[in-house]
Amino acid sequence: MQKWNTTAVNHRANEILARMTLPEKVAQMVQVPFAYVSREEALDWAKRGAGSFLHVLGEDAREIQRLALGTRLGIPVLFGIDAIHGHGLNQSAAIFPSQLAAACSWNPAVLEEMGRVTAREVAADGLHWTFSPVLCLGRDARWGRINETFGEDPYLAGELGAAIIHGYQGEDLADGEHILACAKHYIGYGDAIGGRDSCDTEMTFRKLKETFLPPFRRAVEAGAATVMTAYGSIDGTPFTASERAMREILRGELGFTGFVVTDWDNVASLVQKQFVAKDIDEAALLAARAGNDMMMTTTAFYESAIRLVESGALDESVLDEAVGNILRVKIAMGLFKRPQDRGTPDCLGCAEHRLSALFAARESVTLLKNDGVLPLNETIRKIAVVGANADDIRAQYGDWTYFTHPHPSPKSTPARPYVTLLEGVRMLAQPHGIAVSFARGCGPLPDEVDDLEAAVAAAKEADVIVLAVGDVVEQAGEYRDRADLSLSGAQEALFERLLQLGKPIVTVLISTKPLCVTRVAEGSAALIAAFNGGMYGGQAVAEAIFGAVNPSGKLPISFPRHSGQIPVYYNSLPGWHGGRYVDLPETPLFTFGEGLSYTSFAYSALHVERETLRVSVTLTNTGARAGSETAQVYVRDLVSSILTPLKRLIAFQKIHLEAGESKQLVFQLQRDDFSLIRADEVRVVEPGEFMLFVGGSSKDVDLLTQVIALE
Ligand code: NOJ
Repeated sequence: MQKWNTTAVNHRANEILARMTLPEKVAQMVQVPFAYVSREEALDWAKRGAGSFLHVLGEDAREIQRLALGTRLGIPVLFGIDAIHGHGLNQSAAIFPSQLAAACSWNPAVLEEMGRVTAREVAADGLHWTFSPVLCLGRDARWGRINETFGEDPYLAGELGAAIIHGYQGEDLADGEHILACAKHYIGYGDAIGGRDSCDTEMTFRKLKETFLPPFRRAVEAGAATVMTAYGSIDGTPFTASERAMREILRGELGFTGFVVTDWDNVASLVQKQFVAKDIDEAALLAARAGNDMMMTTTAFYESAIRLVESGALDESVLDEAVGNILRVKIAMGLFKRPQDRGTPDCLGCAEHRLSALFAARESVTLLKNDGVLPLNETIRKIAVVGANADDIRAQYGDWTYFTHPHPSPKSTPARPYVTLLEGVRMLAQPHGIAVSFARGCGPLPDEVDDLEAAVAAAKEADVIVLAVGDVVEQAGEYRDRADLSLSGAQEALFERLLQLGKPIVTVLISTKPLCVTRVAEGSAALIAAFNGGMYGGQAVAEAIFGAVNPSGKLPISFPRHSGQIPVYYNSLPGWHGGRYVDLPETPLFTFGEGLSYTSFAYSALHVERETLRVSVTLTNTGARAGSETAQVYVRDLVSSILTPLKRLIAFQKIHLEAGESKQLVFQLQRDDFSLIRADEVRVVEPGEFMLFVGGSSKDVDLLTQVIALE
């Protein structure tokens, strides 16, 4: 039973509810956007008893809370914040790798720790709730928010999502060190058509249940206290207005008992963007009936809901249910007992938290190609670091830090400590007396300071070139989708110029998303995907380049060769005549689960016990140094009543092995791992044969297989 669903909590919530007037109830359902209203308005909302505010920090939050506590019923305000990879809107916080970068770790412990640290910092700021994790799948890299996802796979997203939720919420939500998680965006946001942020999806409810619901199921099991509704729509119905999605599936099927918050102004969007409601009253009616408990930003919901109840159009019991959901969570997290001064003061960006951010970055470095140049050896005396992203902390951070929110502030002063790639390379080169030069060359956005000649001149002098390419925050995030994923600006031209020098190039992708880097991958001696590595992203990559860290990341998302090849997610459905475009190979450039190490691993002795569904395999570190490997288990239903993916991840384990060491890995599968959602939307295991795959990536060449029959 969830902590907000006990008899004692229910009793207390009902007591409060019984004393509330209609306006007090509706106010609880309003979430005020602090950065988008005037200070007077904000304070006025606090006096009216608004249930929640978002994007308020520090002293402002304390003042609002004091006013709320002074109202007739004294119901404390719940403060929400986008602490997406660390409490990044606060300049003192420990900044972690983005969700996509952290997903490269395939390490739930990393995500749990990221959640725990973030929670401590958010709580220390007097806030209670983060709008994280994103459980949308990242299946179209054109989408501006792919960096916020755990990548393309439902199982991986669910496991990592559950881990970060445990980290945020801890064992005891009321201990003042933990905060509420928010599983978002429910649902299908990542599958907006054409990668167009917030657009319609081509989803059916069957597909929703099969592919997009599992991470949310996992989040509910992990105890996520809140869920955020997506902007998009399914078969013409906005999710904000979908009783089926919220009441029937989320609450009915998944058994969710926390509260639902809409996304940004979703209620008004029903009128202004989706044109399914003629005015705000109609929109408020749709949203309340569908099961949204709290309305983010749409403060006009307040007057509308009062009007709707007074005119008899909306039954007050609908509001009672919503307010009850909110109150129960507030009570369960101890907000009434300790509304102010929770958490540990001075923990923001403390040494312990920064160490966790560094560890997360190290675990996330993903080596995609290495002709032997890495780790750099002692013959290297001069390194040329090239590319603007090598020394651009904004690019390294990506979205959702103080540079981008609550308002885009490109001029924000970067707050130390952090280590860019250039700084990391310098730090590691210095003790060995290796010379490091830097030339910006160019950045992802064409700029008058681009200087390819200077970069070529610097590179000419070097033994090895470390080239950073990628994108910047102006090319990603909400409202910023890309049609063309090739390297922007003069980055390709810079690469060609450097290639002509005939020196080894180590290319590092500092980007929010998989970019189409076919040419760069071919020509580079080594390629590392760093994505947005957080405050120590640059250090972690430099450590990998010098061999102080043995890379162990695996891709949570596939890289298209060309934007026109999208979608390229590995778990696609069969049936494509030709199986490829005539002008591109059938494979993506890099595929889900891929990632190299400085050592090598071998899989042997795959054994599957049909009766117990116990899978065992021997993993051996066959190389000369210690390293970590992520063993992956996939399944394919050989004949099924509906189309099923050619491969679907059902288990994984990350293991550390010394050189020469062997371990037997055991995966205890469940019957449900073999299930599908039938055409009539029922989840079943259809008897027949299944192929199991075990190995180090989703590529056939990396996998051992065995067929088993299930009754
Ligand atoms: C809109 C975004 O879609 C959502 O992810 C975020 O949590 C809210 N704005 C609040 O900033």
